[in-house]
Amino acid sequence: MELKSKDLLGMEPLSREEIETILETAETMKELSERAIRKVPYLRGKTVVNLFFEPSTRTLASFALAEKRLSADSFNLSSSSSSVLKGETLLDTVKNLEAMRIDFVVIRHAMPGAPHFIAERLAASVINAGDGTHEHPTQALLDLLSLKERMGGNLDGKKVLIVGDILHSRVARSNIWAFRKMGAEVSLCGPPTMIPIGIEGMGVTLLYDIDEAIKGKDVIYVLRIQKERQQGGLLPSLREYMELFGITPERLEHAKKDVIIMHPGPINRGIELDPRVADGDHSIILDQVTNGVAVRMAILYLLSGGKSGEVEEA
Ligand code: CP
Repeated sequence: MELKSKDLLGMEPLSREEIETILETAETMKELSERAIRKVPYLRGKTVVNLFFEPSTRTLASFALAEKRLSADSFNLSSSSSSVLKGETLLDTVKNLEAMRIDFVVIRHAMPGAPHFIAERLAASVINAGDGTHEHPTQALLDLLSLKERMGGNLDGKKVLIVGDILHSRVARSNIWAFRKMGAEVSLCGPPTMIPIGIEGMGVTLLYDIDEAIKGKDVIYVLRIQKERQQGGLLPSLREYMELFGITPERLEHAKKDVIIMHPGPINRGIELDPRVADGDHSIILDQVTNGVAVRMAILYLLSGGKSGEVEEA
């Protein structure tokens, strides 16, 4: 099966079948990435620009590696290294890049909807690498792949708890769509000031007592407290947040014995997550990072017209 759109803008528009196609393709890409020579020719002759207007380690590095492993030509632009600093608009920036015959724009931008805005105006494929507090679809897809590997199948009937700063989290929004589309029951837990009004409309359950919330859950997905997006007054203090909502080994004693701990990174160690949990046996945080490369290879391959099931040993 092929993807319906030329772009990957969010989890909301994707069907379960499209998600399964991306995950199956990513599994094959992961096998290719684990060979001695980690390079295949599927994007030879294609050009990708990574347009990152917000900081990134994992997403930018894994897109860059995915592009190299697929033999694409690619380069990075940031707001501080481009003429955006001189006042050039986003649209002028991408129109000028398109005039140089690029095929893909991977964009991270602080403004929700920025990838959608340029996708409507470009023939090139646009991939959303995080737009403000809206969506981060490639994160959700790598999270699904990591859970599929760990749980040996789909998420039907599994219980997932997302903990923390839901208000500012594009990861939470994309993962609510992703986990629900794949059949999981999703609950949210955090300070009431960090739970967006009306989010129950996405089909989630709201819980405010973390010690009750973690009971019986298969997955605890811990979010970063986004200090850079805080406008003040949402948290009494980071120390109090750790006491009330931080995931510690003591708290996990009341969780399922095989509970899975996830976090998108970067981690605020000792705030939302105790280092002993981050580095402990329940954590699959570094597996998530590994799977980021395979998922991004799969998305680039499928959006360039590649077919699931036709990835061959090259
Ligand atoms: N998870 C994630 O998006 O990390 P980066 O901000 O480092 O890309």
